[in-house]
Amino acid sequence: MLRIQTSHPAVAKTDILVLAAYEDKSAYNDPQLQELVDRAGDWPEFSGKSGDELIFYDLQGVKAKRVLILGLGKADKADRETMRKAAGKAVNRAVKASLTSMLICLPEPGRQVDTGADSAEPMMEGAVLANYRFDLYKKEKRHKPLKTIWFYSDFLSEDGARSISEKTWAICQGTLMARDWVNMPPNEKRPAGFARSIAKAAGKEPLEVIILDAGDLKKNRMRALLSVASGSSSRPQMVVLDYRPESWEKTIALVGKGVTFDSGGINLKSASGLEGMKLDMAGAAAVSAALVSAARTGFNQRLIGVIPLVENMPSGTAYRPGDIIKTASGKTVEIGNTDAEGRMILADALDYAVRQYSPDVVIDVATLTGACIVALGEKIAGVFSRDSQLSDLIVKSGQKTHERCWAMPLAEDYRELLKSDFADIKNAGKNRWAGAIAAALFLSEFVGETRWAHIDIAGPAYASKAGDYCTAGGTGFGVRLLMDAIEKL
Ligand code: BES
Ligand code: ZN
Ligand code: ZN
Repeated sequence: MLRIQTSHPAVAKTDILVLAAYEDKSAYNDPQLQELVDRAGDWPEFSGKSGDELIFYDLQGVKAKRVLILGLGKADKADRETMRKAAGKAVNRAVKASLTSMLICLPEPGRQVDTGADSAEPMMEGAVLANYRFDLYKKEKRHKPLKTIWFYSDFLSEDGARSISEKTWAICQGTLMARDWVNMPPNEKRPAGFARSIAKAAGKEPLEVIILDAGDLKKNRMRALLSVASGSSSRPQMVVLDYRPESWEKTIALVGKGVTFDSGGINLKSASGLEGMKLDMAGAAAVSAALVSAARTGFNQRLIGVIPLVENMPSGTAYRPGDIIKTASGKTVEIGNTDAEGRMILADALDYAVRQYSPDVVIDVATLTGACIVALGEKIAGVFSRDSQLSDLIVKSGQKTHERCWAMPLAEDYRELLKSDFADIKNAGKNRWAGAIAAALFLSEFVGETRWAHIDIAGPAYASKAGDYCTAGGTGFGVRLLMDAIEKL
């Protein structure tokens, strides 16, 4: 829980009081707080550098038993990410020490940012996101999250701080919800179960939930989606979330890849390739959670979430390389590789989103290609769009939220990578060159003239090791990014 502290931090009953220090500027107007920070500077091991930490126990004049001072570095270098990481470090330390409450005194913003909110919001994000553990399947819960995180500000009004905390909380809960879904084992999130879980979360908000089952998908001629699902004993589903505020000017559709386990199908992945393929629904998780968060924060445009859910498995009923499948759009696809399944389900889902809702903008989010990880690594997503204004906007949101995105080319002449001798298009070409671009070009066939962007999150959806505010595993990447981007559309 996030709370705003109104009485002075020195008299607060909390397990740990956290203060921040710049190397070259005071962080607090309040002389009593700044005096505590200055005391840390008396110790040679603390100079306020980013990453520096010093802890005092039983300080006179402070009710909290522990006072932790965090370095933020030089004020003109300290950006939002510095704030997130500092708050995350503090929370991790407290969680490891089995503490239950913390009070963070928000430092005045550094010179990189212009408003107080720019220090409050990322500090709150870092704290909430770090206060997460996925231990549902462990008997012994080693590290329990903090029960309450309090914030105190000597530069924001109480109402201002409270409204920032409420919005940040709602958005970060979306990120944590997406992490939970990604971390869930694949035997526990098969399409029908995952659809129910999304419906349950969405049902608590002003969202209309429509679940299309295999019969509905057949009626809609979504043979691309159905063919991917055909190898699995779990039947496919498509969840549609519809958020309608009282009035709106724009309709934005978000589409998320939901492959609850990607074995590769008949083109079975290698042992190392199979590992971790429960992450292949991270796009679906991000889109579902973003809709829930947007509804909770009272977003002012119409928002549609289209979430196709399938399991990609090899079996006697599975689709094969060489199959030709007629998609809902009418275009035929020759299967070059059954492991290129994400673009198949997205073909039908994008077509559905565009035709049913005529959105002004459609953005899809997908763990689509290993090639995108080769290009940009584990921390950066690829953005593909014919509309550079739209990709710029997404890249900017990525800079702000630190869910980083890099614009990749949608080179028209690369379409030849997808040429088929027998069908309109092939789902995977002969070679692996430009794999991420080829996949994006494939998707572009199914959005018509609609303003569209594709975000390949194959790298950043999952962290192989823990960071300052994210445990190893699902990262919830995309929720904060989408929330920021849709506000700017
Ligand atoms: N789900 C994978 C992409 C992926 C790989 C995500 C690693 C996260 C980590 C996708 O369905 C896939 O298998 N893509 C193939 C496409 C190829 C067969 C054209 C790939 O990237 O190798
Ligand atoms: Zn695949
Ligand atoms: Zn996949």
